[in-house]
Parts: sequence; C-alpha cells; structure tokens
Amino acid sequence: MEAFGGFNRKPEDIEEAREQAKHCKACPLWEPATQTVFGEGPADASVIFVGEQPGDQEDLAGHPFVGPAGKVFNEALANAGIDRAQAYVTNAVKHFKFEPRGKRRIHSKPSMGEVKVCRWWLELERELIAPKLIVALGATAAAAVLGRTVTIRDTRSKLIDLPGGDTKLLVTVHPAYILRLPDPEAQAREREAFFADMARAKDYVPQIAL
Ligand code: URA
Repeated sequence: MEAFGGFNRKPEDIEEAREQAKHCKACPLWEPATQTVFGEGPADASVIFVGEQPGDQEDLAGHPFVGPAGKVFNEALANAGIDRAQAYVTNAVKHFKFEPRGKRRIHSKPSMGEVKVCRWWLELERELIAPKLIVALGATAAAAVLGRTVTIRDTRSKLIDLPGGDTKLLVTVHPAYILRLPDPEAQAREREAFFADMARAKDYVPQIAL
C-alpha cells in the first residue's frame, strides 16, 4: 500500500493513521461532516467490528457506535461476554453522510464509490491490527471488507476465510436494521439472531466475567 489522499507517507501505526485520517479529503463527505470518526480500540485487538458509517451522534462525538445502533451493539457484546475495550471498532466509511432536513440530519447510505475510496483506511486498519476475526455489521461493511458486493442472505453467520493471511470474516446484520423493524416480534427475533452471531466472536476476544 502506498500513501493516500495527498499524504506523503503511509502511516506506520494506528495512531499515525488516526492523525492522518483527521485531514482526509479523498471524497467529498469530509466537508459537511463535523469530523473524521476513525476506528477505536487496542492496536493489537484480535477482533475488528466494522459498521457502515458514523451516524449523527458519532459525528458529533467523534467516536464510533455511541448512538442508538451503538446501544444495541453494546448490548450484544455484553450478552456475549465481550469487553468492548478489548475490540477494535470502526466503520467502512469514516465520515457521516446525511441529508439536511430542517434542523435534523438524516442518515444517507454511502455509495459504493465512497465505500471504495474509504476502503484504503479500512485495509490499513486491517493490515496494522492484523486481527484473527473481522465482524462485518451489515452488507456495506461486508462489501468494504471483501471488496465486492455480497448479500446478507448468502453470507450471514458463516466464517469466511479472507485471502492473504489467517483472518476470518463473520457477516451479520447492522444493529440499525433491527431498530428499523416496525413489528416488535420481528424485532425481538432479529435481536436474538444478531446476539447469536455476535456471540460467535467471543472465542476470538478476551472475555469478561459474566
Ligand atoms: N452506524 C454505524 O454503522 N456506525 C456507527 O458508528 C454508528 C451507527
């Protein structure tokens, strides 16, 4: 991998990557966003969780998964006995993409072009952290990790060998998908299935005592 986005050297560690990414203008999403929301967690984490992109609250706070989807994510981790502080949590796209609607900012799905551009950062995070497992939360994250479009239906809950190393990929749904389901029964069912997927990650992470 070469340097990227106008920078003259490729970051050598995750702190340098985070610092450079603060100034990334490789796609137009940086401009309306408050800040880059880079991944967080130990540089030697054995699991990376990948979401789609920061939401409204993440954009303001500068941290991934701190809003409503983050609450479901945290509950799934707690249910699995996984300590979030032991995992590296990031997103396929590092800036919040939104449509302004009055005073509100409505989440807008990143295009595959934006995912492709931002993939440089995700690949770098993967290279520097060298995890045993990557958990893709949703189809956008799965596409970003694999470099091609896949469906949740075809890939969900399977352990997929990633080329170039001994990292595996586990694909599950995005927690925001569960929150969007109008039927409470479907929501409860999907929540259980999501928790079950997330529990599969626990073999790869130091566990907390339950
Ligand atoms: N949704 C995501 O995909 N990532 C976040 O950080 C928050 C919401």
